[in-house]
Amino acid sequence: MSIQTVTSLDGRVKMLDGNTIPQFGLGVYEMDDEQTYQACKWAFEAGYKHVDTAEWYENEGPSARAMLDYMEESDTPRSSLFFTSKLKTNRGYDETLRDLRNSLKVAGLEYFDLYLMHSAIGGPEMRKNVWRACVDAQKEGLVKSIGVSNFGVKHIQEFVDQGVPLPTVNQVDLHPFMRHPDIVEICQKHNILLEAWGPLARAMRFDHASVQKIAKAHGKDQAQIMLRWGLQHGTIIIPKSVSQKRIISNSQIFDFELSKDEMDELNGLDEYLVTDWDVVDCE
Ligand SMILES: NC(=O)c1ccc[n+]([C@@H]2O[C@H](COP(=O)([O-])OP(=O)(O)OC[C@H]3O[C@@H](n4cnc5c(N)ncnc54)[C@H](OP(=O)(O)O)[C@@H]3O)[C@@H](O)[C@H]2O)c1
Repeated sequence: MSIQTVTSLDGRVKMLDGNTIPQFGLGVYEMDDEQTYQACKWAFEAGYKHVDTAEWYENEGPSARAMLDYMEESDTPRSSLFFTSKLKTNRGYDETLRDLRNSLKVAGLEYFDLYLMHSAIGGPEMRKNVWRACVDAQKEGLVKSIGVSNFGVKHIQEFVDQGVPLPTVNQVDLHPFMRHPDIVEICQKHNILLEAWGPLARAMRFDHASVQKIAKAHGKDQAQIMLRWGLQHGTIIIPKSVSQKRIISNSQIFDFELSKDEMDELNGLDEYLVTDWDVVDCE
């Protein structure tokens, strides 16, 4: 699959199962209920179409409530918005279906657009069983698409070798300071979309000279430069913010383009910067 880059907030990229996903969304990690509801409402009102939550974040409920309220207030159909959640723990086939049904109940939704295994933790047999449950959940219509998160090369290769349906996305930490070239390569080889968690590197490198220089050249802020870099790589990006101002500014990345030299300069900054957990090499 060639690199897909959208030109607006509602632009979607195609997944290998034929469904589409808005390339830009809001991440809601480490937000309490009130922050989550408010941030999602502000995001939808600003034109976001996509929210990324997880069983782990304990805010599937307020994320979905904000989406449903926004749909009602703006007469927006469910099909034009996109809701992702994730399985917290790999515990087995039955447990996965039970946890997914519970997440849907907590969210008050009939289906998730995308459901991810949050990690590969648990070993090969566990991954096989959990993934089989995800495949069956998709057949049952509980989820439109299924994917994985924090999968390393060997975990993706395992599914390829088993001949099972491949995940539509692999959500890993991706930004100029953490590029995971081996994971990117295997995903691209198998048409698995890369989705970037931590696309802002948790705001840890906004003071880097290259990021500052390129931001100044475009009259943009450092966050917008890092997000635009991800967008031009064809990555799905889900920056998190609890601030209405930053939720809006983070989405203003469709009116400029980084040159090849600027992309190359940012591409050269990889330092394997771990901003949260790092489980891509787990057994
Ligand atoms: N699959 C996984 O294992 C995994 C792991 C981590 C995250 N995620 C997902 O990915 C999403 C994004 O990743 P993340 O939350 O780790 O980090 P991130 O989006 O890279 O960075 C978020 C941090 O940057 C700050 N920020 C946001 N916009 C800013 C701006 N314009 N200027 C200055 N600071 C800004 C935020 O503070 P304010 O809120 O105060 O603006 C927050 O501290 C998560 O919310 C979650 O949905 C998934």
